[in-house]
Amino acid sequence: MTVKPIIKMGNPTLRRIAAPIDDPTTPEIQALVAEMRASLEAVGGVGLAAPQIAVSRRLVIFEVPAERAEAEDGDAAEPVGSTVLVNPVITPLSDEVEMGWEGCLSVPGLRGLVPRHTHIRYTGLTLEGAPVDVEATGFHARVVQHECDHLDGILYPQRMTDLRYLVYEEEVPAFMEGLKADAEMAEAEKEKADD
Ligand code: NI
Repeated sequence: MTVKPIIKMGNPTLRRIAAPIDDPTTPEIQALVAEMRASLEAVGGVGLAAPQIAVSRRLVIFEVPAERAEAEDGDAAEPVGSTVLVNPVITPLSDEVEMGWEGCLSVPGLRGLVPRHTHIRYTGLTLEGAPVDVEATGFHARVVQHECDHLDGILYPQRMTDLRYLVYEEEVPAFMEGLKADAEMAEAEKEKADD
């Protein structure tokens, strides 16, 4: 199956509102999913939205392997098998929002700290046209929100509330060390002030 190039931030397709899919069972859509799977597998990652291979349709694929879910959420891990979601609709189930690190194949090399709802419900259709109705928390919920944003022309940096937390991947360890050092310094200052 053809591996398609993944388009990057700045490409106008990534800013468009993607069109709904009337019938997910057509050969055209089956072929699109096969191409998306091949393209995601070729580069590695937890999810991909159709617009990222320049097809402006409302379809996302994702998968959260157990190891990744545990690394992100520990005991609350919610692994997800290979999933195809057509015409997804997300409803937040609480007002709680959590910051977490994200990357995106269309924004290569960067990571950012992004606020997302911690508990959502998502509906849509499977590739066979069956209804989907799922509750998700933690990283599972984050992945779905990230992928579905692509269908509305939104990339994660646009969701960020503090662009000081947009960093190059290779600087992440140093950045985290720096944050820790800052926090320790602030704590020491506070103790001094309390004396
Ligand atoms: Ni993305």
